[in-house]
Amino acid sequence: MLSIDLRGKKAFIAGIGDDQGYGWAIAKALAEAGAEILIGTWTPIVKIFTSSWNAGKFDESRLLSNGKLMEYTKLYSLDAAYDKPEDVPQEIKENKRYIDSEGYTISEVAAAVEKDFGKIDFFIHSLANGPEVKKPLIETSRAGYLAAVSSSAYSFVSLLAHFGPLLNTGGSTISLTYMASEKAVPGYGGGMSSAKAALESDTKTLAFEAGRKWGIRVNTISAGALRSRAARAIGFIDNMITYAQNNAPLTKDLEAEEVGQAAAFLVSPLASAITGVTLYVDNGMHAMGVGIDSPAFQNQPS
Ligand SMILES: NC(=O)c1ccc[n+]([C@@H]2O[C@H](COP(=O)([O-])OP(=O)(O)OC[C@H]3O[C@@H](n4cnc5c(N)ncnc54)[C@H](O)[C@@H]3O)[C@@H](O)[C@H]2O)c1
Repeated sequence: MLSIDLRGKKAFIAGIGDDQGYGWAIAKALAEAGAEILIGTWTPIVKIFTSSWNAGKFDESRLLSNGKLMEYTKLYSLDAAYDKPEDVPQEIKENKRYIDSEGYTISEVAAAVEKDFGKIDFFIHSLANGPEVKKPLIETSRAGYLAAVSSSAYSFVSLLAHFGPLLNTGGSTISLTYMASEKAVPGYGGGMSSAKAALESDTKTLAFEAGRKWGIRVNTISAGALRSRAARAIGFIDNMITYAQNNAPLTKDLEAEEVGQAAAFLVSPLASAITGVTLYVDNGMHAMGVGIDSPAFQNQPS
């Protein structure tokens, strides 16, 4: 029987802050397939995540099909906006949400993972941040635009540069992108659409470079709208979900689990010849050229 068996594999998943987002769903799917899970959580929310976990707030979401609860072997505090300690501005170092933490830059986390585990097999980049995401692109400041691209796109380049040498041959990486990279989605501002375009373009270039250098694969999943914490902060996620239900080829709800399963396939040997792709997991929303719920289509067959 064809199955996804990731027993004996180790996955580092960057961008888990609660049980609502795509990072969590991917961790769960990889754990279902038997992989060992390492987590990278954004430094300012490590305490709230670990205390919620320890208090059992995620227990229901942790339940695997074998009746056990998903576990992680180790959690690393990570701020993917910084590559090395000297990049961290003094005011961040002294910020009350950072002051008790250390070793959270990408190079330090990669070194810690190597020290703890030697080689791993996969890393997942499920993080994004655009401080001006609510502003239209045309009103976005240079600093806001560059911050979005830094946290949401360059962070993948840097993670790959630092984790690439730690990945076993045949290893695999995935990032998460969104359709606003290629089609205008009003409301997804602040340079976030630009960051996603960079992430998708980089997927192709990095697939070549990492394939030749380390024999590993680089793919990105263009996911449909999900009510995650990050998406709720943007402010119009419910409209996007309703719009997709009204206009996508498949009108069912899009479940985070479906993105998790696609990720499990993509990292698995079943996808051993797939690299450099943007895989749409969005109920087909990307395929539509028009919104059929427009009044202009009122008398058309659907
Ligand atoms: N929710 C959607 O509708 C949707 C659609 C398509 C793609 N995505 C993408 O999926 C990925 C995961 O987002 P999500 O919507 O599941 O929300 P989420 O809130 O679960 O995940 C985003 C995570 O990024 C972390 N983060 C932010 N800045 C960081 C930094 N500098 N360093 C480390 N971590 C940082 C946050 O703490 C959070 O845990 C993102 O790349 C997002 O753009 C989301």
